[in-house]
Amino acid sequence: MTNVFIVGGSGKVARHLARQLSTRGHKARSLHRDVKQADELEALGAIPVYGDLLKLETAELAQLMTDCDVVVFSAGAGGKGGAQMTNAIDGDGLELAVAAAMAAGIRRFVLVSAFPEAGRGKAVSETFENYMAVKKRADAHLAATDLDWVILRPGTLLDTPGTGNVRAGLAIPYGGIPRADVAAALVEIIEHSGLNRIIIELTQGDTPVGSAVQQLARA
Ligand SMILES: NC(=O)c1ccc[n+]([C@@H]2O[C@H](COP(=O)([O-])OP(=O)(O)OC[C@H]3O[C@@H](n4cnc5c(N)ncnc54)[C@H](OP(=O)(O)O)[C@@H]3O)[C@@H](O)[C@H]2O)c1
Repeated sequence: MTNVFIVGGSGKVARHLARQLSTRGHKARSLHRDVKQADELEALGAIPVYGDLLKLETAELAQLMTDCDVVVFSAGAGGKGGAQMTNAIDGDGLELAVAAAMAAGIRRFVLVSAFPEAGRGKAVSETFENYMAVKKRADAHLAATDLDWVILRPGTLLDTPGTGNVRAGLAIPYGGIPRADVAAALVEIIEHSGLNRIIIELTQGDTPVGSAVQQLARA
């Protein structure tokens, strides 16, 4: 059984992740910033952990992470609050979570990032351009640590039902992917504890998610 601390625990990917972790016999501790979310998280099999990334100090977040084996960062401002909030959550929030994991002695850190080609060929807003830059800054920050990190870069997230099949690789063509399948890939990554210091691109595809992650772990 793996204890997984999920930053952004009330998010859409994170909710799928909490449910799937529980089904596989693991335990999610899901950080959420609205007390009203606690019951729903509990119903998914998670332990709700109340806290706001904008208010927590490193030591306080480290305390909340105590006894966890892995941190998954799936938080994001979601475009709300403009560049300032994206910088604060997707950027500074990630750096806070990394510092807290280190302070808590947790070595394994999985970041849900973004596919670099998202938006290519489209006229994107300044907010989106900033979002992509902040996601890259977060990747670079985590990759520069000596933690056992995995950076997962899913394509455009979809709310269609999960298929159980994906395409995963070091460099693959851009595409979309159901959030449930992103969560399934995260579960597999968590269970392959030897899979570290790797950036994985992820879209929908034809390979069962377990095999796709196993192939990367073997390589
Ligand atoms: N949309 C896409 O196509 C796409 C593609 C690739 C990657 N991604 C990234 O994938 C990740 C997961 O996506 P998703 O759709 O699951 O996102 P989501 O549903 O928007 O979840 C993000 C979570 O972050 C939480 N959060 C925001 N501010 C916070 C704060 N101050 N303190 C604590 N938590 C806070 C939100 O809390 P509340 O529930 O309270 O709002 C929300 O639950 C995000 O990082 C996103 O940027 C997105």
